[in-house]
Amino acid sequence: MIGQSNSVGYQVSQQTKILIFDSGVGGLSVFKEIEAKLPALNYFYIFDNAAYPYGELEHETLTARVETLVCQYVKKLDIDLVVIACNTASTIVLPMLRARLSIPVVGVVPAIKPASNLANKAIGLIATPATITRQYTRELINDFSQSKPIKMIGSTRLVDMAEEKLRGAAIDLKELEHILGPMKNNIDVAVLGCTHFPLIKNEIQSVLGSEVLLIDSGVAIARRVESLLTPTAGAGEQGQREIYSTAPPWKEKALNVALTSFKFDKVRHHPFEI
Ligand code: DGL
Repeated sequence: MIGQSNSVGYQVSQQTKILIFDSGVGGLSVFKEIEAKLPALNYFYIFDNAAYPYGELEHETLTARVETLVCQYVKKLDIDLVVIACNTASTIVLPMLRARLSIPVVGVVPAIKPASNLANKAIGLIATPATITRQYTRELINDFSQSKPIKMIGSTRLVDMAEEKLRGAAIDLKELEHILGPMKNNIDVAVLGCTHFPLIKNEIQSVLGSEVLLIDSGVAIARRVESLLTPTAGAGEQGQREIYSTAPPWKEKALNVALTSFKFDKVRHHPFEI
């Protein structure tokens, strides 16, 4: 369990439970980075596929769902630390969740700050249609990247492609090229501002070209989680891993096969009423 300690942050035992939340499978890209550092923790991955895609959801609907779902699961599973592994949600729900929960809540937002230090020409932000219009994203750009031009693409189709790839489908590179075309040859750093996109990183790289640096927030999030725990938290045997959905997932069999590579069992459905 995690309890607030005076100087180091949080005390952790072998029982430490981490909740990772997203609308779909994108958060697995963040989970992968965290569990590479901290394999012995207990991981509970919850995805709200009943309301997928979050990038096209009304503000109020999204905040209400995330607040209710996350708070319910935190209580039910006695969670110690929450990771909102979704840029679309993190850019609006973090203050409200932090006000309601007494445990740490780590969010994922587009890596504009590191991108602005790395770019010489221009930055590309690839995210969901909602994330590119968020006030939070605008502030990140104002604060950290005023001197570099930013080109933004908000696409739900890219999110779908990542969902499809995880279930074994091949990505149509022509289609990807059509979506990313407007930023091709115009940028030198691209921010993967949706947690689904590291799952199709190789394909994005092949379309944008090897000279474009792709960055995401996964490793930084893993470092942040680690910094909130005691040094011994990552040691020991592999912990418990469970994955829950709010609706029966499409191509469930194929999804379950893919989940074995993340060392998760089959998806459990937990229909959820707001
Ligand atoms: N994975 C999510 C993100 O990081 C959102 C995908 C969606 O449901 O639109 O933004």
